Amino acid sequence: MSATHRAWAPGRVNLIGEHTDYTGGLVMPMAIDLGCEIRFERIAEPMISLVSADQPDPLTLQLPVAGAGDVMPAWGRYVAGVAEELGAASGIVGEVSSTVPLGSGLSSSAALEVAVALALGATGSDVELAEICRAAERRASGVPCGIMDQLASVAGVAGHALLIDCGKLTVEPVPVPVDCSVVVIHSGQHRDLAGSAYNERVEQCARAEVLIGPLRSAASDAWRRIEDPTVAARARHVLSENGRVRRFATALAADDLGLAGSLMVQSHRSLRDDFDVSTPALDELVERLVATPGVHGARLTGAGFGGCVVGLCDAGVDPRPDGFLGWIVHASAGAFVEPL
Ligand code: GLA
Repeated sequence: MSATHRAWAPGRVNLIGEHTDYTGGLVMPMAIDLGCEIRFERIAEPMISLVSADQPDPLTLQLPVAGAGDVMPAWGRYVAGVAEELGAASGIVGEVSSTVPLGSGLSSSAALEVAVALALGATGSDVELAEICRAAERRASGVPCGIMDQLASVAGVAGHALLIDCGKLTVEPVPVPVDCSVVVIHSGQHRDLAGSAYNERVEQCARAEVLIGPLRSAASDAWRRIEDPTVAARARHVLSENGRVRRFATALAADDLGLAGSLMVQSHRSLRDDFDVSTPALDELVERLVATPGVHGARLTGAGFGGCVVGLCDAGVDPRPDGFLGWIVHASAGAFVEPL
């Protein structure tokens, strides 16, 4: 194939601020040096034709797209969701390849969506682009996700984590200290968002908000006013997590890795005990990592229910246990498209 352009969009790892984005809270992801690439040619015909280096079946889509959620092969739903959101009338032909492991909580689908949006010629601010891709994700998977994954992929800054206020939609880059490294380790448990209790958690947070008002601005002890113990626990996680993100950002900026790491461990416990999205495999991996010399903290990353843990370590320390897939990741720049 004689591609003339290349679109690249990174995956992301979330350092802290989990299950807070869909209530307009705080998150702190960083775009990583694993991502999705599309080499393509723009064509005048109303058609998208893509082969995948990682998936057996190619994708052919007639434009305009309607009903992205039913497209086959399934990976094409994310492509179709973006085309549908953009109302794309002219298409592309090309090849997709990705280094983001699928179903691991590192936003392989957001990276694909953002790369497709750029390949289809989407323009606009970082937030506008991320909103298009988030809407595409919802169309494709039916999961009522927040904006973190898509915005991190679009707005990544090399060497920086991103403090994102998902209510105000502001992004503040915070330098990742050079004396630390970020490791991601797969628990071996595949995570499937659509089949998980993600939607239920979103609903429980919405119920909490009916009772005590927006979680993003509620007092840290407002969860005490909720009678239902499950909904109260969900709210307690979100309220405490927003506070931890703020403190983590300050700790990272001050190169206080000890404090940053202990906030990550607290985040994991809150996700395990209050939000109930951890698994024994994730808990075990976190315990194992935090017991490793040179590791300051670790937690599950992404939605939970399987997938990966993220650890904050001294530079040069590689705590990946034998038999586990893992990556030392680097904070990377956001998505781009370029002529070849
Ligand atoms: C998934 C969603 C995000 C976010 C996380 C949990 O990655 O796509 O929007 O809600 O889960 O923090």
